[in-house]
Amino acid sequence: GHVEIAVRAASLNFRDVVHVKYLKEKNLPFIPCSDCVGIVTRCGRNTNLKPGDRVCPLFFPHWDTGRPSNPLALRGALGGANALEGGMTQGVLRERLEAHEKTLIKIPDYLTDAEASTLPCAGVTAWSALTDFSLDKLKPGSTILLQGTGGVSLFCLQFAKALQLKVIITSSSDAKLKRAKDLGADAGINYRTNAKWGKEAYKLSNGGVDVVVDVGGAGTLTHALDAVRVGGRIMMVGNLA
Ligand SMILES: NC(=O)c1ccc[n+]([C@@H]2O[C@H](COP(=O)([O-])OP(=O)(O)OC[C@H]3O[C@@H](n4cnc5c(N)ncnc54)[C@H](OP(=O)(O)O)[C@@H]3O)[C@@H](O)[C@H]2O)c1
Repeated sequence: GHVEIAVRAASLNFRDVVHVKYLKEKNLPFIPCSDCVGIVTRCGRNTNLKPGDRVCPLFFPHWDTGRPSNPLALRGALGGANALEGGMTQGVLRERLEAHEKTLIKIPDYLTDAEASTLPCAGVTAWSALTDFSLDKLKPGSTILLQGTGGVSLFCLQFAKALQLKVIITSSSDAKLKRAKDLGADAGINYRTNAKWGKEAYKLSNGGVDVVVDVGGAGTLTHALDAVRVGGRIMMVGNLA
């Protein structure tokens, strides 16, 4: 069931930066990064994949569908803390890697290698935050507040517009806010020049936003609480701030 893939594109997430930053000599060898696209070069016995197939590794190799059945399914994210602790899940920043085909997913032709390589961590997280866990709070015209213009937030912006939501997005940069508006954001708030950006989002949404995707954590939660409506939802995703 195992195949070898040649890596053709890899994408960076915030976690990759954190893992490398806190890397200690005792943790070597360590291969960072979880997200890539590769082309199958060799197949073991009993595989459904064939040479030439383009694939992405799953971020969590032991969790392929549905809700995770037990905490062990969430262990071993590629190129993550488990590898730092000497575990078996080294990352993808290498030329070739070997994996069981159950931990890989085929990529449709309409996505380039670089595009598809951004999906496993940031893309699937954003999709889950807006659909699996929040759809009961969101209908066309509902308002969502996104924080910063990183990978997760920009995926959320694009999925939110596809769901016909109103998007308020924050950034430390007016130029990035303009770019976010070009991508469909309805309103932008500079969180550097407007320290009360949660209250501003509340005003802009006429009684509070329906969902906040909070990627900041401790440093942004009070602002998320200022912004959200009674009965709304705050998705706790990250710890940037
Ligand atoms: N729970 C999960 O499954 C999961 C999955 C993926 C990611 N995460 C977490 O989600 C967070 C975002 O990940 P990412 O990969 O999207 O990050 P990223 O691409 O590195 O995003 C960086 C951006 O975040 C914004 N930012 C930084 N500090 C901020 C602050 N104090 N307040 C508001 N925004 C701030 C900045 O936007 P501007 O430049 O526009 O200011 C920055 O450019 C991370 O903490 C990551 O670990 C969790």
